[in-house]
Amino acid sequence: MKNRVYNFNPGPSTLPLEILQTVQEELLDYEGSGMSVMELSHRSPEYDEINNQAIALIKNLMGLGDNYHVIFVGGGASTQFTHIPLNFLPPSKVAAYVDTGTWSAKAIKEAQNLGNVHLAASSKEGGYTYVPMGNEIDYPNDAAYLHLTSNNTIKGTQYHEFPDSGSVPLICDMSSDILSHQVDFNQLAMFYAGAQKNLGPSGVTLVVLRDDMLERINNGLPTIFDYRTHAEKKSLFNTPPSFTIYVVKLILEWIQDQGGLKAVEDNNRKKKNVIYNLIDANPDYFRAPVRENSRSWMNIVLRLSSEELEQKFISEAKAEGLIGLKGHRSVGGIRVSLYNAMTLEGAEKVAEFMENFRRRNG
Ligand SMILES: Cc1ncc(COP(=O)(O)O)c(C=O)c1O
Repeated sequence: MKNRVYNFNPGPSTLPLEILQTVQEELLDYEGSGMSVMELSHRSPEYDEINNQAIALIKNLMGLGDNYHVIFVGGGASTQFTHIPLNFLPPSKVAAYVDTGTWSAKAIKEAQNLGNVHLAASSKEGGYTYVPMGNEIDYPNDAAYLHLTSNNTIKGTQYHEFPDSGSVPLICDMSSDILSHQVDFNQLAMFYAGAQKNLGPSGVTLVVLRDDMLERINNGLPTIFDYRTHAEKKSLFNTPPSFTIYVVKLILEWIQDQGGLKAVEDNNRKKKNVIYNLIDANPDYFRAPVRENSRSWMNIVLRLSSEELEQKFISEAKAEGLIGLKGHRSVGGIRVSLYNAMTLEGAEKVAEFMENFRRRNG
């Protein structure tokens, strides 16, 4: 469509054009209700169906049984950084955290405000260029939980498989790679993700909890901070961000129609290969700081020989309609975010631009 750019923003990020068009078509009169989803009561049968379908699609796509609760809450993934220790860290225990960069560090800080934290591993010394695995991760076997970040949006690292946490519940911030590849979600006691990268627009956070976690919740919490409240009321304890959840539901259908996580993973593999292969073919020009086995498929970070050259790259890319390639302000450089809604064509456009840029500025 004319005027649509290739949007590589790290979040909020690009959404599938066909979903935006569906939203547009349904905006003024949702399924004969004579109103927009924005105007529907969250207690109406129409909204109830949207909510139920979204929950069912999540469970189906992730292969989750009835022992998992799917909830939608506001406040962003950052709110979960506080809610997790509030609910699951009793005064008698420690919570174990893996530090893999900015977002996990923020989660750690919030847990430290509320209780005892054990740093199970950190890749800080290595400049956060990898994710610790196996026996690099060490924590007491009676820890309240082990928390990690599956994809580090800023540093461009990703867990391609999760450590086995044994009997310690594994909790994962999946904000920037949720539903981007096949995962055995049943390894996880809880996971959560802000919607604004792979799930839809900003404004809602998906939280999935295993049944046994509800039994571990600290007593005496304010009602709205207690996960049981939202699990029992199917996210309808108070007014949910209903319009956002409706768009999330459309995105989930879009994923299912493509063939589910296997198809999404295959496409994402092709996309990341287009960029990483080019980087690897020109290692003296494009410097990829992340260790190969920790490379993110979602956020590819790279550096050029100088900040001036990086600046030139970003502004020339922008002039060609390739938007949002600037690295996070805390680290600089270039970052190519390839969330589910970015097309293979978009990844190829960036690769073509990179190659031409290298030739012009070699
Ligand atoms: C991995 C990760 N966790 C948490 C957050 C914070 O999310 P929110 O802005 O929804 O609080 C982000 C934001 O980019 C993120 O990338």
